[in-house]
Amino acid sequence: MERLIVLLLCLTASYAAQPPACEAQVDSLGAKVDALMRQLQLQQLFVEEKVRSDADSGIKQVPTTSTGTRPYFSQTHVGDTVGNIRPVPSKKNMFDIGSLIAVLNGVEFRAKRHTIELRTPHKTSKTFHATEPITLPTVPPQVKSKGDVTKQIAEMREWFRNFQDVSTRSGRNFYPYFKSVFCYLEGTWLEADKKDPLSADFLNTQYNVKFQGYTGAYNDEKYDYLPTTMIDLINDTIPVFGKWNYRIMCHTPKTVIKRDRFRVIDNIALRMAKNLTFEEYKDSDYARFQLNPRNSKYDTSKSEYFAGRGLLDIIMEEIPGLDNYPGKNVDDGLFEAVYPLSSKIATQPKLNSAYYNRWFRVMRKGAMGLTVRHRGYSDESIFTAQTTQQKVAGMHLDACNGRGKSRVCVNYYQKWSYAVPLFVTYLTPLGQWNPYNLKKQTNDATVTSGGRTGGLSSTKAYNGYSDQHLYLTPAEFFSAPSTPEDPIKGVLDAKGTVRSVRASGQRFVFPEIPGVRGRVRQTYPIFPVHTDGSVVSKELAALVDMVTKSNTFANLFK
Ligand SMILES: *[C@@H]1O[C@H](CO)[C@@H](O)[C@H](O)[C@H]1NC(C)=O
Ligand SMILES: *[C@@H]1O[C@H](CO)[C@@H](O)[C@H](O)[C@H]1NC(C)=O
Repeated sequence: MERLIVLLLCLTASYAAQPPACEAQVDSLGAKVDALMRQLQLQQLFVEEKVRSDADSGIKQVPTTSTGTRPYFSQTHVGDTVGNIRPVPSKKNMFDIGSLIAVLNGVEFRAKRHTIELRTPHKTSKTFHATEPITLPTVPPQVKSKGDVTKQIAEMREWFRNFQDVSTRSGRNFYPYFKSVFCYLEGTWLEADKKDPLSADFLNTQYNVKFQGYTGAYNDEKYDYLPTTMIDLINDTIPVFGKWNYRIMCHTPKTVIKRDRFRVIDNIALRMAKNLTFEEYKDSDYARFQLNPRNSKYDTSKSEYFAGRGLLDIIMEEIPGLDNYPGKNVDDGLFEAVYPLSSKIATQPKLNSAYYNRWFRVMRKGAMGLTVRHRGYSDESIFTAQTTQQKVAGMHLDACNGRGKSRVCVNYYQKWSYAVPLFVTYLTPLGQWNPYNLKKQTNDATVTSGGRTGGLSSTKAYNGYSDQHLYLTPAEFFSAPSTPEDPIKGVLDAKGTVRSVRASGQRFVFPEIPGVRGRVRQTYPIFPVHTDGSVVSKELAALVDMVTKSNTFANLFK
């Protein structure tokens, strides 16, 4: 195509020139265009390789909204909340995700503010981006059978007491009624339209983003910044463009994640800026957590330790990539088939690479030593999954192995997506517990019609509830007073009586519940932080441990 244009130009513009000279000019220009395309592709590789080795996949930064006399007063991976992730308690299964910059496998991108409903990839369909809603757990029959609202409240508190203490005492096995939901950030290169890879619409968005950068006037709700790449050259000449795409999806782990598996990761920059004690920070919207790799109760008295494939891997390996739950694939990349760590010989099952993984095994003839591998050169937190989706931009590679007669050449074509964990949230029976028998409105507008704002008078109280106005929980279930962020709302019941209720959706931490020890946390952000993978951060983490746990690490002092 390019050559044709050049040829036309050549023929019209320099009609006096000899045709052979013109042809030579076309060939030379064609070669230059090919070389430029190659260089463009290698330039992207250079950037990705640099970001990949600088640090891990994870959240890098949220927008700055405050500054101060020291660097720690401005935002990091923590903004208004940790990762700018915010549960929306008044709506069913809803989270508000603020603007953030993240890195997945060396690709840095910026997500705009948006809300997400908790959904899982489809259980049976392989259709691209087919999803299913996550259902709320039911209410324990022991609560419902109490009848009287006061008695129901007392019984429900007992269930929360067991949930908090991770105990099944007095026959209240809370596990079926408190469901863990594991949400993750997933990204991939989607193949751009072959005929119009950089469409006018697409370029318009990119230029708006460029203008934001140029002027510094960022509107965090307006644009994602999603990079593009020339991912492949078919037959060495036809470019395939990839456009970055991300989403937040969730999975219900096969076994409920026990809440004592989490431990809070300290953030002294944040605590310094906000003047928070460790205890205050732990129960705040800023706290980030870590899953104990050992899948046992986190013992704070124990020292830190090396860990390989752990609890996080067990959960991520249950999560499919873009082929959804029916996905099945094997990775035979570069003549080394990929096996799970549990396979010891080549006849044992290969790893299902359609599911997210980072630790794997390769089998080598003879005593070659190291066979356990980790995905990514130095990226601790990356998880990868293979896909067959038409829409995903893949990559070809002609590779040969061996010498002489045993030489084999294979044309590989693979497509991948990447993921990191974001947060774990627990669905509780509160989402469906309705002791006042409030009416569920299918049309959300009915709840607020006639200027109803949820006030405590019969004219202002909501008319029933809906998924968008999920106010069901009797106000007195909690002991904490009404606040602007966590208001007590009036809702009319079937008899027209105004009932005082509170939001029943997802939260970081519940308000105080009488009889329950401490504050009950519902959502645990567990995302990795990009810079934690840098050499500097590793040294700093050691220093923080040494200073804040000087007894444990006393022997390190000189
Ligand atoms: C690439 O080359 C092969 C063999 O010459 C040909 O069959 C195929 O159609 C080409 N692909 C494209 C997209 O042109
Ligand atoms: C931090 O908070 C404590 C009370 O919790 C207060 O006594 C102290 O003065 C505060 N420090 C700063 C620097 O504001």
